[in-house]
Amino acid sequence: MSAESKAGYRSAAWFGKNDRDGFGHRSWMRNQGLPADVFDGRPVIGICNTWSELTPCNAHFRHLAEHVKRGVWQAGGFPVEFPVTSLGESLMRPTAMLFRNLASMDVEESLRANPIDGVVLLCGCDKTTPSLVMGAASCDLPALVVSGGPMLNGKYQGRDIGSGTDVWRFNEEVRAGVITIEQFMDAEACMSRSAGHCMSMGTASTMASMVEALGLSLPENAAIPAVDSRRYALAHLAGRRIVEMAAEDLRISRILTREAFENAILVNAALGGSTNAVIHLLAIAGRVGVPLTLDDWDRLGHNCPTLVNLMPSGQYLMEDFYYAGGVPAVVRALGEHGLLRREALTANGRTIWENCREAPNWNAEVIRPWDRPLVEHGGIAVLRGNLAPDGAVLKPSAASPHLMRHQGRAIVFEDIEDYKRRIEDPALPADETSILVLKNCGPRGYPGMPEVGNMGLPPKLLQRGITDVVRISDARMSGTAYGTVVLHVCPEAAIGGPLAHVRDGDRIELDVETRRLHLDVPDDEIARRRASWQSSPPPMSGGYQRLYFEHVLQADTGADLDFLTGCRGNAVPRESH
Ligand code: FES
Repeated sequence: MSAESKAGYRSAAWFGKNDRDGFGHRSWMRNQGLPADVFDGRPVIGICNTWSELTPCNAHFRHLAEHVKRGVWQAGGFPVEFPVTSLGESLMRPTAMLFRNLASMDVEESLRANPIDGVVLLCGCDKTTPSLVMGAASCDLPALVVSGGPMLNGKYQGRDIGSGTDVWRFNEEVRAGVITIEQFMDAEACMSRSAGHCMSMGTASTMASMVEALGLSLPENAAIPAVDSRRYALAHLAGRRIVEMAAEDLRISRILTREAFENAILVNAALGGSTNAVIHLLAIAGRVGVPLTLDDWDRLGHNCPTLVNLMPSGQYLMEDFYYAGGVPAVVRALGEHGLLRREALTANGRTIWENCREAPNWNAEVIRPWDRPLVEHGGIAVLRGNLAPDGAVLKPSAASPHLMRHQGRAIVFEDIEDYKRRIEDPALPADETSILVLKNCGPRGYPGMPEVGNMGLPPKLLQRGITDVVRISDARMSGTAYGTVVLHVCPEAAIGGPLAHVRDGDRIELDVETRRLHLDVPDDEIARRRASWQSSPPPMSGGYQRLYFEHVLQADTGADLDFLTGCRGNAVPRESH
């Protein structure tokens, strides 16, 4: 078959030419041992791989990619695996979130610049999912997500322990003198005992569930453990399906509709998912031009119960969730109770309701029935007031009921270093009514909006058995964390938002029911403090961090870079060189 005998795929503009350029495009590829007929006009499927040994959650991805390739070959496609920036949550400093937008640029430009007709996105650790989806969305090719899957349940001293969630707990217990440092160290290997990402309902599991709810993956993708053979069968099927998607020109923009985002918000509420999903979905929506606001999260999620009994809100872990039925069982429950946008299209060409309407729930303790939810009103509460005019978020399912309506005096930390210096000080004037306030941890302030909002409590409170106080910051919180934690305060302190002007001893009122977050200081006094406020210089004089500092948007719109919002398509008008 000649290279010109099939046309229509984007890659034909590279491989379908019989001139000098076509020679060059094909010839160098053939050094990999490829036969001539792979250039016969069949769809070229990119396998966008975030494999890295520095991203332990994604360290098994070369193996996963091989299974995607099997499916692509089998369906008549030509698979090409390529690496993109991999963001490892557990190692990167100052925070992986600083680089989410950078990685999305890598994905977008790699897809557009190369002869790719459809792409499988291999995602796992927290930021690898949003960065790949954001990049693919700005390029608008057919795209299908295969997640790496969660680790098996942690096992320590005869009980299950969850990534992150139990680290916070162990850490507090060490600080309170309840367990020894040796016991703490022992738990390390017991928590992470297989390939895969965090197996609590942290951000990685939440974002894997979000892509399934958005329709960007095959059903069941989110919860299959990384080492379960069915994860590899799903990768194989995804390889087959993306070839069909390329033939159907089923682009990501046809799946990422307003209805798809609404479904994702509802599924997040039913899961008790991470607050980080708020920022990531807002950013993804911004890439495809779907109007989505912070208030959509509150409005849609408020009437949705949290059904899934997983840490940190509940008791179980992702392995249990998969055996219980996973995301399809949750989607079915939403559909049966009138909350699902049933007609939303998914990657397999069927609607989400067609995929899930018969999904079984095998364990009513892990996925609770509608009339016996884990939390009656799940979702994300969006708070506003003079302390957060553009909004702040709180996850009710992870908060303490007795603190949902609270007034207290602020103990203010100017930045995370200030917090670390003073939190252990026995003289810190903290009691159970105190409100810990942390500044300068927003997108611009840190920079990168780290997961430090669930700051640990002063030891003197822990020793008294107090495990939660209200905490307020412009930071994020790990999806594995818990507590009455007000996050993402907008505008952030580093751009002079009201948070910057809170001082020790100020009275603050939190009322989650009325969504109020109020700094009880007279307006003229706040204005006086504002007049003396000074901004900080950029963290670096040049490079990406300078670019980020100058262009990052606030959390209420997804903390993308201002020049990256929107879809730029996949057309490249010029030949190479
Ligand atoms: Fe990678 Fe938690 S550290 S998912």
